[in-house]
Amino acid sequence: MESLYGSYRALPASVSIPLSLGLIVVIAIIHNVIGQLVFPDPNRPPVVFHLFPFIGSSVQYGIDPYKFFFDCQAKHGDCFTFILLGKPTTVFLGQKGNDFILNGKHADLNAEEVYGKLTTPVFGKEVVYDCSNERLMDQKRLLKLGLTTDSLRAYVPKFVKEVEDYVKTSPRFKGESGETNITDVMAEVTIYTASGSLLGNEVRSMFDSTFAVLYRHLDDGFQPINFVMPWLPLPQNRRRDHARKVMEGLYSDIIRKRRQEGNQNDETDMIWTLMDSKYKDGTALPDTHVARLLIAILMGGQHNTAASGAWILLNLANKPHLVEEMYQEQLEVLGSPPAPLTWENVQKLTLNGQVIKETLRLHSPIHSILRQVKSPMRVPNTDWLVPPTHTLLASPGLLGRSEAFFPNPMEWNPHRWDKMEPLENAVEDSRKVDYGFGMMPKAVSSPYLPFGAGRHRCVGEHYAYAQLSAIIATFVRLLQLEQIDPKASIPATDYSASFSHDVDKIIR
Ligand code: HEM
Repeated sequence: MESLYGSYRALPASVSIPLSLGLIVVIAIIHNVIGQLVFPDPNRPPVVFHLFPFIGSSVQYGIDPYKFFFDCQAKHGDCFTFILLGKPTTVFLGQKGNDFILNGKHADLNAEEVYGKLTTPVFGKEVVYDCSNERLMDQKRLLKLGLTTDSLRAYVPKFVKEVEDYVKTSPRFKGESGETNITDVMAEVTIYTASGSLLGNEVRSMFDSTFAVLYRHLDDGFQPINFVMPWLPLPQNRRRDHARKVMEGLYSDIIRKRRQEGNQNDETDMIWTLMDSKYKDGTALPDTHVARLLIAILMGGQHNTAASGAWILLNLANKPHLVEEMYQEQLEVLGSPPAPLTWENVQKLTLNGQVIKETLRLHSPIHSILRQVKSPMRVPNTDWLVPPTHTLLASPGLLGRSEAFFPNPMEWNPHRWDKMEPLENAVEDSRKVDYGFGMMPKAVSSPYLPFGAGRHRCVGEHYAYAQLSAIIATFVRLLQLEQIDPKASIPATDYSASFSHDVDKIIR
């Protein structure tokens, strides 16, 4: 009788392991595609088609989020889900989406679970996203005490002096004319003006040495990968952790010294404001919290301002006639030679303000606002539930690029605001709400929300405007800007960083 058994030979591991892995990937792709095409869940928002399970649409989103959103909106409408590094991320666009996400209840969705991983190793514990939401709201209330109109009045001349000194002394501005890198200039000017005002004289004097290195090392902690794995034992993460400890120590020393010596020169800055503050439950703000909040406003706020400032200079270099127009505005409004730039005088420079406003419309440094869903949320007027396994994503900046609200939206044109209603204030719904840091409009209906809305709304808006206005108005007095190739268009945004920014050069 013939044997029923055949012979076999085991494949060598060098062949069988890749083969098995390849098979697993193919099966996963097939399973994923069939799941999307054959069994779409009618109770969930539509899923953006993707081949690879974990990668999903991460690449398209990462390259150009606005293009990705517009493409998906054309296919699926305002609400859809895409996979971002394994995480189902439900996008809800438009005014309704902004309201749903930015005005959502804290019990339903939160920011700390999304942002905390990235920010806590940089800011430190017990502040911002490493404390309860109620505590964060209280910390924002305290920060606002250092950003009052009186404080801004004290800060504006300091901003101006910093920019003047910078142009005089920086090796980036040698000689009568030359080329310089706008992004680097704005990063430096922003930090010097912020430290010379908000962070106090001691920090400013250290910024030319110790502090600059610490700042750079902390800044390296803002890599997008750290949204997911901030604990990776990478050299930059070790430097980040070390820099945070040293910076906190430096602030604590400054605070101790100030307590001993008192405010002899009647200075105004955020350290003086915070060091004697109390939480609303009556407990004094510990020095560690003061130090960590200062790190937070330096690292969080200044990034946005620097990125916005770079876009302003870049657009002005692209349209140099506007620089001349802005200079003429100063002569017209402030006299010839123009009066010093004070808080009051800066408010009078309409075009100067519109240049900032238009830049924040088109180049908002935050293209995606994320929240972790905590309990199932029904999308209004649909059968769709967004489950707690999802992240929610709002993109108020998309409306700023929408033809429906801003004709020819991709054109950077500060004069579009000449006749436009002040959109961010044009809230028909006059209801106000206080999340713990002051009254603000409850409605989120404006198509122009560069500073967000709801409980996580920015508290740095007026400070950022004062800082950018003073910086730009001073540059306009001191420099003529022009891009190196006058015919070149504005370069594309680099969306790979945590804050959208760009690089180009100017001539003076
Ligand atoms: C052009 C400059 C700036 C822009 C475009 C900007 C934009 C924003 C946006 C969109 C949010 C909302 C984020 C969210 O909902 O998740 C926000 C929050 C915030 N911003 Fe700003 N910001 C700027 C400057 C500043 C500055 C200078 C400071 C501090 C001095 C600051 C402090 C804050 C704080 C404390 C929050 C609250 C975070 C929270 O509640 O979760 N920002 N900012």
